[in-house]
Amino acid sequence: MKLFIDTANIDQIREMAWLIDGVTTNPTLVSRENRPFKEVVREICGIVNGPVSAEVTAMDAPGMIAQARDLAKIHDNVVIKIPMTADGMQAVKTLAAEGIRTNVTLVFSANQALLAAKCGASFVSPFVGRIDDAGGDGMDVVADIVDIYANYGFTTEIIVASVRHPHHVLEAALLGADIATVPYAVLQKLFNHPLTDVGIDRFLKDWEKVPK
Ligand code: G3P
Repeated sequence: MKLFIDTANIDQIREMAWLIDGVTTNPTLVSRENRPFKEVVREICGIVNGPVSAEVTAMDAPGMIAQARDLAKIHDNVVIKIPMTADGMQAVKTLAAEGIRTNVTLVFSANQALLAAKCGASFVSPFVGRIDDAGGDGMDVVADIVDIYANYGFTTEIIVASVRHPHHVLEAALLGADIATVPYAVLQKLFNHPLTDVGIDRFLKDWEKVPK
């Protein structure tokens, strides 16, 4: 399973660049950086050699397509994030025909993911944390998407997004999702286990007893 980082913060991306396979951003994450959007996307593409998702803000298909073409010029690794709407799916179809990769975002049901795949999306992003927040089970939706894509041989890659804790990453891997996009703080937690710390401490103490 590939690991992306879900941030627009350059320091976090630089620190984790050795580990991650790509980057996802969204307007909220970009707004925290207080810098011009395209400048941030260009800098990220210079750090990470993998897909970098940049989101459109137009809500009509022609506007999304125009923004997508402009963003795609920044770097070959730019993937255009498009919201799951009828206009969005029209834009995805047009962009797929032009060879521009898309990541369909704000996906909360397996039917939405089916439509994204049928329209030629390169990636689909079910928001598991927000589904959980609304009283659903985000991972049930991911499991359905995995089954549906396998049934029909869709090549759209599933990005488990809106990840809130390490257990989301574990469940994504168990279900066979292609990618989890993980916030910096959760990536840090993946390395940790209290027994690892206890074990290191004991080994180092015992090592002091070994005659040198
Ligand atoms: O990048 C999209 C998604 O990961 C957002 O997550 O935590 O705002 O629901 P969150």
